[in-house]
Amino acid sequence: MNRRPLIAGNWKMHLTVSEAVRLAQAAAQTCGACPDRDVMVAPAFTALTKVREALKDTSLLVAAQNVAWEREGAYTGEVSPVMLQDIGVHFAIIGHSERRQIFGEDDAMINCRLRGALAGGIQPVLCVGETLEERETGRTISVLEQQMRQDLQGVSADKMHQIVLAYEPVWAIGTGKTATTEQAQEAHAFLRRFLTEEYEKNIADGVRILYGGSVKPENIDNLMAQPDIDGALVGGAALQAESFDRIIRFR
Ligand code: 13P
Repeated sequence: MNRRPLIAGNWKMHLTVSEAVRLAQAAAQTCGACPDRDVMVAPAFTALTKVREALKDTSLLVAAQNVAWEREGAYTGEVSPVMLQDIGVHFAIIGHSERRQIFGEDDAMINCRLRGALAGGIQPVLCVGETLEERETGRTISVLEQQMRQDLQGVSADKMHQIVLAYEPVWAIGTGKTATTEQAQEAHAFLRRFLTEEYEKNIADGVRILYGGSVKPENIDNLMAQPDIDGALVGGAALQAESFDRIIRFR
């Protein structure tokens, strides 16, 4: 199946509002020149409104870096799907390894966020991935399977096509160590097999699976040549207009 490639920049806790708007405008320009692929940026909450406004006449997609499960209530520090909708943001990263590892979000909470997002009209970019220790002890596939099973619990087939998956091996994030194309392809193929078994082939074939972890201009072309890699979730290299431009223009 022909899946439309998606290159997403996760800006994490970087950039002031004006820096974010400038970088988003540069990405929008590249995006306009590459009509056969989708491009997304995920600014910090403080910059979301302005970035969204600055991009409203472009095809660049905008995502939040997380989202709460309830519409409103006593949840200090959280932002709800309704609030994102209100500013025209329709995507959110959920389950990033930094949320899991630094802020203690577990699969039950990630499942809650994911279902809340879907119920509130927000399309999740769900991140899964193993740690170095899990890989070195041969548990990569079983960890991915457990994350997928728990994070997607209760998600029906008709919602699954709204989800983008991101395979981000924790040991490759911000370390300069990329998974080899074989390691990445193997994990992506497993995730697609899981979707085939849990849903159906049609759905598995349609879901985009991004690779994340030290994606750079130097490795994007090889990663994108893999049959089950449909895009990238880029951290550090998305913070420079030039390197993100080259990644968007992968060949
Ligand atoms: P780096 O590209 O900086 O390794 O970050 C990857 C990531 O976590 C994207 O979500």
